[in-house]
Amino acid sequence: MNQIVRRPRRLRSSSVIRDLVAEVSVSPSELILPIFIREGLESAVPLSTLPGIFQYDLESAVKEARRVYDNGVKSFMIFGVPSEKDSLGSQGYADDNITSRSIAAFKDEFGDDALVMADLCLDEFTDHGHCGVLDERGCVANDSTLELYGEMALSQAKAGVDFVGPSGMMDGQVGHIRSVLDMNGFSEVGILAYSIKYASGLYGPFREAVNVSIANGGDRKGYQQDFRNVSEAMTEVSLDIAEGADIVMVKPAGMYLDIIRSVRDSVNLPVAAYQVSGEYSMIKAAGQAGYVDEMAIAYESLIAIKRAGASSILTYFAHTIDEILSR
Ligand code: PBG
Repeated sequence: MNQIVRRPRRLRSSSVIRDLVAEVSVSPSELILPIFIREGLESAVPLSTLPGIFQYDLESAVKEARRVYDNGVKSFMIFGVPSEKDSLGSQGYADDNITSRSIAAFKDEFGDDALVMADLCLDEFTDHGHCGVLDERGCVANDSTLELYGEMALSQAKAGVDFVGPSGMMDGQVGHIRSVLDMNGFSEVGILAYSIKYASGLYGPFREAVNVSIANGGDRKGYQQDFRNVSEAMTEVSLDIAEGADIVMVKPAGMYLDIIRSVRDSVNLPVAAYQVSGEYSMIKAAGQAGYVDEMAIAYESLIAIKRAGASSILTYFAHTIDEILSR
């Protein structure tokens, strides 16, 4: 029997119809702005490998955060950059360190109208540039690093942080930080867990932003994940959830959309993604060279990350989201 297949009618094309039926959108309130605050600066300093991004002194950081807040971005991730570094990263958890002072200043400015998050990792504070302390052989010592992460979590919590963001990829970091926070009366402080963090070449520009170089040409392959693998990433997510993560994050984002989708389909927690420094700088550079339309590609990249299943995105494009969305 012959079946008659009706050709779909062609509707009049209009942006109103396209917007009516669009499946994915991105809004400023879903973004988290990473912000670098460096001790001892008098004014903001531009970063050559991250065009348009600065290291801020505390005052100019708050001012920039307020500007971005007025464009609808309400969450901030503070990266404190100390003026002194040592082998134990002691400025990461010392009283009144740059991160704590920044958290307190942001909470003063915004109160509960914004979410103040802080990176919880030692690499910004160690002179060897690793995310943890080293043992006699020069290898990162997982368990002694956890102790220091606990100290950092406490110092950030005392300063008023809403979420800590452990990014050092030590085993058991979420569980250890959760129990230190709970035991000290900070159970309301959340954990945005860097659950999947691949050892990626895309973090290059960030290292200039936080003045980090890894000693003896080292890398982080011993504690970050191998980008050829999927299943170990999913194991890391389950462990973080069991240990008490409130939001799980995938990093980098744009080259790992398959991973974001797998996580989205297999967990019931909010999923965040970090569009990292290299992703940002490549789009910026290609835009500046005139090869692509920067704003259009920035928008497309954010939509792709949302479409893959992320509910929140940590991105340097949060600085210019007003321009990106008004196009
Ligand atoms: C570690 C940390 C890194 C980034 C965020 N937290 C660097 C690293 O693992 O080497 C990279 C973020 C980016 O590239 O934008 N504290």
